[in-house]
Amino acid sequence: MAFTVAIDGPAAAGKGTISKAVAAHFGFAHLDTGLLYRAVGAQVLAGGDPVTVARALNPADLEHDNLRTPAVAQAASEVAVIADVRSALVDFQRKFAARDGGAVLDGRDIGTVICPDAQAKLFITASAECRAERRYKELTGKGLSITLAQVLEDVKARDARDSSRATAPLIAAADAALIDTSDLSIAAAVARAVAAVEAAQIRV
Ligand code: DC
Repeated sequence: MAFTVAIDGPAAAGKGTISKAVAAHFGFAHLDTGLLYRAVGAQVLAGGDPVTVARALNPADLEHDNLRTPAVAQAASEVAVIADVRSALVDFQRKFAARDGGAVLDGRDIGTVICPDAQAKLFITASAECRAERRYKELTGKGLSITLAQVLEDVKARDARDSSRATAPLIAAADAALIDTSDLSIAAAVARAVAAVEAAQIRV
């Protein structure tokens, strides 16, 4: 039976970590949908046309290691504004969600647009300052030379673009469980997410 967990929220709120942990806990497959937009963004930076690239995207494009850079993140956020890019990516996400054995999808519009009927919906958030600090540690840990102020500016610019776009803006579904990770350890945040999914399983 298909059981879909939709996990949305802004950049660096902890969605990725929580989604992986929830998928591992329940034995569900996991799709980081940001990778779809990053893969399109990376190919656009290399000179491609966003809509053509999105229509031709295949799963192997999600495996490249260059998708985690700040430049690709900004490009992803820019292509994500284009309605035809978003619609080109819908089928792949819905098919993934409908697979047998359960699926976790994380992104910005999973609970609202891609899987409005998901059995469990979580919205993971944290203050912009907390998220910038986490992203800063992650990027400098990888050897990137960047300042905390730059990262905070990037986080805020991406939040503003993701939240204000006309098509599928970042917004919590009315029926999503909200988890603010600003003052939570990873273990505590994961425990809340697992509990929210367990509560949803009981309701099904
Ligand atoms: O989650 P992420 O940082 O990898 O996402 C990169 C960008 O892709 C983000 O700024 C907005 C966009 N995105 C989106 O619009 N919808 C999704 N479901 C996932 C990501």
